[in-house]
Amino acid sequence: MKKLESMFDLTDRVAVITGGTGLLGMQHGEAVASAGGIPVLADIQVRSVDPSAPAFKERFGARACAIQTDITDPESIQALLAEVQARYQRVDILINNAANNPKMEKTAEVEFSRLENFPLKQWQDDLSVGLTGAFLCSQIIGSELAKQGRGVIVNVASDLAVIAPDQRLYRKAGLPADRQPVKPVTYSVVKTGLLGLTRYLATYWAEAGVRVNAISPGGVYNNQPEAFVARLANLIPLGRMANLDEYQAAILFLCSDASSYMTGTNLVIDGGRSCW
Ligand SMILES: NC(=O)c1ccc[n+]([C@@H]2O[C@H](COP(=O)([O-])OP(=O)(O)OC[C@H]3O[C@@H](n4cnc5c(N)ncnc54)[C@H](O)[C@@H]3O)[C@@H](O)[C@H]2O)c1
Repeated sequence: MKKLESMFDLTDRVAVITGGTGLLGMQHGEAVASAGGIPVLADIQVRSVDPSAPAFKERFGARACAIQTDITDPESIQALLAEVQARYQRVDILINNAANNPKMEKTAEVEFSRLENFPLKQWQDDLSVGLTGAFLCSQIIGSELAKQGRGVIVNVASDLAVIAPDQRLYRKAGLPADRQPVKPVTYSVVKTGLLGLTRYLATYWAEAGVRVNAISPGGVYNNQPEAFVARLANLIPLGRMANLDEYQAAILFLCSDASSYMTGTNLVIDGGRSCW
């Protein structure tokens, strides 16, 4: 009988994960490591992890590392690529995962989020990390994949790349309509833009052997306020937010040869939310 397990194998493949020390970045790292790959957690903020600690090696494999990187700065990405090549003599996978993701359901400072007040600086910062950062990493690391004639890019979008935010989710009792918090406009723009980048790169590098896909996760449960969770669950056919580890199998699928005939598309994993 044919065994399909080997199609998911990532033995010795090096995966650069931007935003790698964030909530989902670490989950992607674990997924890569679980298939024998080597996760490189590239993040502007690596203080939360200690690559020399046994717990880090246990979780991400003995050869994994974390490299401080600012993906808005081309020189920092060049330095990341140089360090990866010096350490491993190869790079196989890029996961564009970093983004600013303000948690409107948790924050008390909400007025800035409304479109009428949204600061230009915040617009520029959000686009700079979520969209320009993904472009720059693709330009620098993706070009290396294209040069070697093989590789995979996965762009982490969101259910909000395919549907508009339902701003009723973020409403706070007692505030007038013009002061109600909303999911910032930049989140929709960045995530939708990533789908365009995905299709562009997929066709641009198809003949070079680089596959490019997006994943659109729905919201992950992370101790959000109970009322918010209940309202969101009500918009989701499966009736709940995602568990933290429920995107790992999809990441593994997109990074591995299991998805060898797939490029330029968007894998929506949202508990069915975008059906409604
Ligand atoms: N958590 C969710 O519910 C959810 C749902 C759908 C999509 N997503 C997407 O998944 C991705 C990860 O989300 P998360 O919840 O883990 O967020 P997170 O905030 O925990 O992680 C984001 C990481 O990006 C890093 N980062 C920010 N600016 C950077 C820069 N200039 N250079 C390098 N790294 C930088 C941060 O330090 C952080 O570690 C994001 O793209 C997010 O939009 C998350």
